[in-house]
Amino acid sequence: MKIGVAKEVDAAEPRVAATPDTVKKFKALGADVAIEPGAGIKSGLLDSDYEAAGATVSAEALKDADIVVKVKRPEASEVARYKKGALVVAIMDPYGNDAALKTMADAGVAAFAMELMPRITRAQVMDVLSSQANLAGYRAVIEAAEAFGRAFPMMMTAAGTVPAAKVFVMGVGVAGLQAIATARRLGAVVTATDVRPATKEQVESLGAKFLAVEDDEFKNAQTAGGYAKEMSKEYQAKQAALTAEHIKKQDVIITTALIPGRPAPKLVTAEMVKSMKPGSVLVDLAVERGGNVEGVVSGQTAEVNGVKIIGIPNLAGRVAASASSLYSRNLLSFIETMIDKSTKALAVNWDDELVKATALTKDGAVIHPNFQPKA
Ligand code: NAI
Repeated sequence: MKIGVAKEVDAAEPRVAATPDTVKKFKALGADVAIEPGAGIKSGLLDSDYEAAGATVSAEALKDADIVVKVKRPEASEVARYKKGALVVAIMDPYGNDAALKTMADAGVAAFAMELMPRITRAQVMDVLSSQANLAGYRAVIEAAEAFGRAFPMMMTAAGTVPAAKVFVMGVGVAGLQAIATARRLGAVVTATDVRPATKEQVESLGAKFLAVEDDEFKNAQTAGGYAKEMSKEYQAKQAALTAEHIKKQDVIITTALIPGRPAPKLVTAEMVKSMKPGSVLVDLAVERGGNVEGVVSGQTAEVNGVKIIGIPNLAGRVAASASSLYSRNLLSFIETMIDKSTKALAVNWDDELVKATALTKDGAVIHPNFQPKA
């Protein structure tokens, strides 16, 4: 059994899907590991580090691999080089990308989307959304602090007092919680909002203040899977009225609100941005899904009346070494479940709920129920 580690073709993707540490573990499971040259360099990992861990470094690493591990979904030119029947495990971004799924199906590979991993206890170690969102939330605050022309902590000096920055976090999932914690560590006064009632206690336990319209709809806004529902127009209007007043007084806003499989909810209007003081900063973590902030531009810092709207895609990639390390562990834990420990051979249990939840394509077809081609 051979595992191939891809070098990401997207120049803007600095992460890598295996580390020398996970290579060693794959070897212990009986796999041969081959890696494309330079795959880890942007995460601070040299080819020689992988070799020392027992991997082969080769431009042909993926050609006869039984399992290809990647960060991003492979492009058509990449899957064309994979072995028919190979398992391809990556962050597949499947929603709205039917043509790309068909390309993988047509190539005869079995593609697995790590982000569709069910959020059950057994799969926590495989949860790429959490491992990457946590780092993105941290990095969002660092980016905000860098762009903000003032200090975060309150400083009382002989020359006068610098007030603490006021940070508002919108969306308190994994990324939002880490953003709150990071902003607090930097000394900011932090408030946060979310539509899921469970978040109130989490926000308060981190020493921040919770702000939301807490009506009946709010009390039922969490799905059984723990995600947010899309809120009604009425709720959104009430919430916007409440947050509008609050936003005027904030120095920094970090938005992280997402609804699985839907465009990101618009939470900050252009008018709200205009109501902020010049020098204020917004960081929109939802930019890849359309953004929570009106006027955000992917890959740019937009400026409106001196207010900066930062739209960095792939914030986890800005802490690439940490992100790769955690992502690689997520992959290892999942792939381990597909290897028979006694025969050391590949043995996918297609009835396993983790496999069923993540498998997108198999034997030439798109098999995932959520992505069936429309009749
Ligand atoms: P996410 O990335 O899908 O969304 C981020 C946040 O945005 C969520 O908290 C969501 O409620 C919020 N949001 C959506 N619409 C909003 C709106 N209109 N206004 C304000 N906020 C809005 O969420 P994430 O980070 O993936 O976490 C979702 C849930 O899953 C959380 O409850 C988290 O604790 C839970 N979870 C469970 C795990 C497990 O293994 N059991 C692992 C990781 C997370």
